[in-house]
Amino acid sequence: MKHFINLVDLSTDDIWTVLNKATELKKEWQAGGNKPILKGKILAMVFQKPSLRTRVSFDVGMLHLGGNALYLSPAEIGLGGRESVPDVARVLSGYVDGIMARTFSHTHMAQLAEYASVPVINGLSDFNHPCQAMGDFLTILEYKESLDGLKLTFVGDGNNVARSLMFVSAKLGVDFTIATPPGYEMEEKYVAIAQKAAAESGASLEFLNDPITAVTNSDVIYTDVWTSMGQEEESKKRLAVFPPYQINDELVAHAKADAIVMHCLPAHRGEEITDSAADGPQSVLFPQAANRLHAQKGILALLMNNE
Ligand code: CP
Ligand code: NVA
Repeated sequence: MKHFINLVDLSTDDIWTVLNKATELKKEWQAGGNKPILKGKILAMVFQKPSLRTRVSFDVGMLHLGGNALYLSPAEIGLGGRESVPDVARVLSGYVDGIMARTFSHTHMAQLAEYASVPVINGLSDFNHPCQAMGDFLTILEYKESLDGLKLTFVGDGNNVARSLMFVSAKLGVDFTIATPPGYEMEEKYVAIAQKAAAESGASLEFLNDPITAVTNSDVIYTDVWTSMGQEEESKKRLAVFPPYQINDELVAHAKADAIVMHCLPAHRGEEITDSAADGPQSVLFPQAANRLHAQKGILALLMNNE
């Protein structure tokens, strides 16, 4: 693993290596603090879109491990506008030991990785959100102890977060179901990739339009915003189509009694999730958000600690 930008390129072993490292560093932190394994190392954080969790958890993660992080706002760099993506990658590689980027286009993310001589970590692209998926599976492992026989159901848009959960579920042998409105399904080419991984791991993949059928018998119910960053002009159209896909108490009641409710956040409360489901006894939203820190420390430690 030189970069961490695309879940499709990661092996099942790579994913377990990250989850195990994250667990180890979380335990070490809970026991009194981490060893400064990234002492003197600097991470550049390039953002083309807003962020709370990604920005803060990467910054804090670097501090926990003895390093530092630099926040570079969308206006500052003008990635692909003021300066070409390959040039940004090559310039940053002369200053820092790692680059975390949040881009619109995944092509820009791939270009950063191609031209940087330091590791590049994907903090969200339109294609996938691999750090989110690592935090999510760390959370699922904590609440469910094992992934054996689990059914994870995503309800909503077949977007970057849904795609990430599908790829990781398929690779780790977790049964994955998604319920989307017609027209918002997962793209066939990505389903084909996941199906190949699922055939090897034994996971089942199910693509539905009915949310009640989808959540029935689920161990994990997951949702995300109906309109992702960059799609704002579609917001009105989406608001008309997505309400039957809201996670509310009634829908949660169709899942297993001990199912956990997840959301990558930020949430549009009252749209894709009600307050009652987000704050109810089955919600793990905030431990899930906290685990972004631990998951990413695992990734940083594996990619940037090359002593
Ligand atoms: N879930 C997530 O990536 O949150 P931010 O957009 O706040 O970073
Ligand atoms: N699907 C959302 C996730 C935000 C963390 C988006 O891309 O805006």
